[in-house]
Amino acid sequence: MAAEGTRSVLFVCLGNICRSPIAEAVFRKLVADQNISDKWSIDSAATSTYEIGNPPDYRGQNCMKKHGITMNHIARQITKDDFLTFDYILCMDDSNLRDLNRKVNQVKNSKAKIELLGSYDPQKQLIIEDPYYGNDSDFETVYEQCMRCCKAFLEKAH
Ligand SMILES: *[C@@H]1O[C@H](CO)[C@@H](O)[C@H](O)[C@H]1NC(C)=O
Ligand SMILES: *[C@@H]1O[C@H](CO)[C@@H](O)[C@H](O)[C@H]1NC(C)=O
Repeated sequence: MAAEGTRSVLFVCLGNICRSPIAEAVFRKLVADQNISDKWSIDSAATSTYEIGNPPDYRGQNCMKKHGITMNHIARQITKDDFLTFDYILCMDDSNLRDLNRKVNQVKNSKAKIELLGSYDPQKQLIIEDPYYGNDSDFETVYEQCMRCCKAFLEKAH
């Protein structure tokens, strides 16, 4: 059980190897920089089963190394329990949102607030596109979007 006053957030995308582990790592970094890591429970997960057990995409790993941010994650699929334990479930695109809304319908007493991470973007880029079929600059764009959104989310949520 999380300590009292602790908040929790789960970042979600299709496979949990490109976008959501980047968002998770960025948010961990922001929280660590503010010395409030003990106040947050942070994780990421997939809507699909495609990449379960795999580490983050190497292009995302390179991107995070370039920015000096640690990323340690092994892909997992979201579970019913996640809807009961996380305060926020933040996803990347409309397809993620549809999948999450379908899943939450099968869960009683979900407490999670399900939102697009991009809804926090001060630059109003609502959708964080999947960079899987893209190149390094697409991963950089994902990183920048995640950084802007996570900063704004952290300010709003604590
Ligand atoms: C966090 O802690 C470090 C080391 O104690 C300190 O240098 C830094 O100013 C703190 N940052 C904030 C935002 O409180
Ligand atoms: C990545 O791809 C886009 C178009 O798909 C292209 O405009 C851009 O120059 C490419 N960037 C790199 C770093 O290869």
